[in-house]
Amino acid sequence: MRVGVGVLGGGTVGGTLARKLLAERENIAAKSGVELELVKVAVRDLDRERPFPAEYVTDDLQSVVDDPDVQLVVELMGGIEPAGDLILRALAAGKPVVTANKALIAERGPEIFEAATAAGVSILFEAAVGGGIPLIRPLSESLAGERLNRLLGIVNGTTNYILSAMDADGAPYADVLAEAQRLGYAEADPTADVGGGDAAAKATILAGLAFGVWVGADAVHTEGIDGIDTLDIEFARDLGYCVKLLAVAESVNGGVSVRVHPTLVPLDHPLANVRGAHNAVFVEGPDIGDLLFMGPGAGGGPTATAVLGDVIDAARDLLAGTRVAPRIKLGEGSVVPFGEISSKWYIRLEVADAPGVLAQIAGVFGEHGVSIMSVWQDGRGDDATLLLVTHDAPEAAHQAAVRALDGLDTVKQVAAAIRVISPEP
Ligand code: NAP
Ligand code: HSE
Repeated sequence: MRVGVGVLGGGTVGGTLARKLLAERENIAAKSGVELELVKVAVRDLDRERPFPAEYVTDDLQSVVDDPDVQLVVELMGGIEPAGDLILRALAAGKPVVTANKALIAERGPEIFEAATAAGVSILFEAAVGGGIPLIRPLSESLAGERLNRLLGIVNGTTNYILSAMDADGAPYADVLAEAQRLGYAEADPTADVGGGDAAAKATILAGLAFGVWVGADAVHTEGIDGIDTLDIEFARDLGYCVKLLAVAESVNGGVSVRVHPTLVPLDHPLANVRGAHNAVFVEGPDIGDLLFMGPGAGGGPTATAVLGDVIDAARDLLAGTRVAPRIKLGEGSVVPFGEISSKWYIRLEVADAPGVLAQIAGVFGEHGVSIMSVWQDGRGDDATLLLVTHDAPEAAHQAAVRALDGLDTVKQVAAAIRVISPEP
């Protein structure tokens, strides 16, 4: 049975999807019983060369959604608008939608899920987190019966590439970022990648899937990697850690915490071995134990493959007269304020190398209820580098201690303060 497919966007992912739809038509039909027929691909620039025949190209986005031959719409243009309104238009017309647009899902997810439910059609977004890694379907189906404790995700390939290269080569941040842009990992404007915004959108989706709680990307506590110094990556390695940008979604004190920040990860943790532009999500549950989903988190081939899986799923259901319920089912859960989260911290201080300085610094931690786990010092006569790792203590206590240290005459600089991964909650 035939299903006509209209694609909004024919770039990195959309172009590869269109090519695959044409090249794999018979194979897909043999495997799934669904004959997918590419109808149109909407783009901005009609003259650009594409990896699929020009006869499919149009610059009229709306005509793709409205075409009676198009029964299923794939949104791969990115951005919030007009992508959001086109998706709502397709759903209202009873057409299932597949998208890889994490920014849009993070911003307008609940509204889009409601529209799909009201229209009785599927909305699928497997490629929105982790690119080619099957993640959203396993979380929403295979793990539906598990009360998950925590998800730790390396969900941005650009930042993982940068941190891995700084670790491997000792290269400064700015040089590695330029290389990431040259290789096509980072966007021309890499703000959302290095600032953590892309990971925050993905963290919102992961938290919705795992805990049924919706924390808009704007409400996710987000720190990027732009302040990370190669020196701290080297010191962390000496202490037995590597630095990763983690998206964390965890069940804490009856609520859910969702955050994105650079984190020290022990070198023997599975996430420490996820290098380069790869993505991974480490899932912890009381009965399932630990699971690691890992693979290519970006790129035309991996992402289009995940999108195509959704297209086949949605087409099968369309033909059967059923639908896939939105993968995220929102419940009543509450969000735990960031200040209430406990963790260990790695802190690097540049201090005066003088009698009593160490005691003064230890006193500040004690006054704020933060216990020190380990200390390492390199005294050079007039100044010294001091590395401390603390025991678990509330975020608010750590922040107050760091502010107080910053105010001491003997502390020349609080050069780094990075959270350390905590044991399973
Ligand atoms: P891209 O290469 O920039 O492609 C975007 C496509 O949409 C282009 O074909 C562009 O036309 C078209 N387009 C954009 N705005 C348009 C408008 N107003 N009117 C008509 N056409 C328009 O983006 P991409 O990398 O394929 O990403 C697509 C989506 O997948 C995004 O939501 C992204 O976040 C998501 N995603 C991407 C990756 C990845 O590795 N690239 C991984 C996971 C998820 P022109 O070609 O004419 O410019
Ligand atoms: N810019 C994103 C990344 C693309 O670097 O992971 C995939 O979402």
